[in-house]
Amino acid sequence: MTIFLQRTTRFQAGVGGRLNPARSRALRGGHTYTCSVTVSGRIDPATGIVVNIKDIDLLLKRHIVADFDGSILDADLPEFKDSLPTLENITLAIWSRLVDRMPDSTRLEDVLVAESPIHQASVSRKHRNIGAMLTTTRTYDFSASHRLNATALTPEENQALFGKCNWENGHGHNYEVEVTVAGDPDAKSGELVPADTIDIIVDQEVLIPYDHKHLNYDTVDFKSLNPTSENVTKVIWDKLAPRINAIEPGRLRLHRVAVRETPRNYFEYFGE
Ligand code: NI
Repeated sequence: MTIFLQRTTRFQAGVGGRLNPARSRALRGGHTYTCSVTVSGRIDPATGIVVNIKDIDLLLKRHIVADFDGSILDADLPEFKDSLPTLENITLAIWSRLVDRMPDSTRLEDVLVAESPIHQASVSRKHRNIGAMLTTTRTYDFSASHRLNATALTPEENQALFGKCNWENGHGHNYEVEVTVAGDPDAKSGELVPADTIDIIVDQEVLIPYDHKHLNYDTVDFKSLNPTSENVTKVIWDKLAPRINAIEPGRLRLHRVAVRETPRNYFEYFGE
C-alpha cells in the first residue's frame, strides 16, 4: 500500500543575457515558478503519516528555494553553467537535487514545475516504474456541444443510460485538453520541443475542428462515434500521436492526453 503526497512551493527566477532572445519566448525575462514535489511511502502505523511534511518543506527550502529564488538562473546556479535554464532543464536540476535526499522510507516520485498555467514540465516515475521520465505539458481549451447517443442502443436505452446528456439538441462544455510530450531535451535548445510546434499541431488537429462546434454534427470524427469524453480523449490521442511522434522519432513521443470535461471529471489516455 503506497501513499503519494505532494507539496508545492514557489520561487521567482530570471534568465540572464547568455541566451539568444530570438530563440524562445519562454526564456525571456523571469517567471514565478510553481514547483510541486510528489513523494511516496507507507503509512507509519504509529503516527498515521508517511513523512513529516516539515521535513519535505525543509528540503525544498534548503536545496531549492534558497538557491533558485531571486536568482538569475544561468548566472547563479552551477547546473546552468553549461546548459540552458529551460523549463525542462530546471525540472531536471530540481529532480537531481532532491532524489538522493529524500527522508528515510520515502521515494521521490515526481517533480512538476510550471512556469505558467499552460506550460509545465515534469520528471516522473509515477506511471512507469523504471527510472524517471521527463515530460512537458501544454494546456488548451475549446468549447463545444455534444449529444451522448450510442447508435447500438435504442432511444429508450440511450435515454436510460445518458439521461439529460441524451437531449436531442445537445449541451455544451468548456473542455480543457492537456498534451504531454516525453523525451530527452534537445541538445542545442535545452527544450523537449518548442511550445509553438505542439501548439500548431493541436490547433490543426483539435482546436480548429472542435472549437465552437457541435461535435456530433459539425465534425468528421464524431459523425458515427459517440462523443463521450472517453472517446474524445482517445480520438485526440489518435490524431496527435502520429504527428507528434514524427517530429523527431526516437527522441520525442506523445506520452499522455487528458481531457477535463467539467471541474468534476477528467479523463487520461497513455496510448495503451
Ligand atoms: Ni456532456
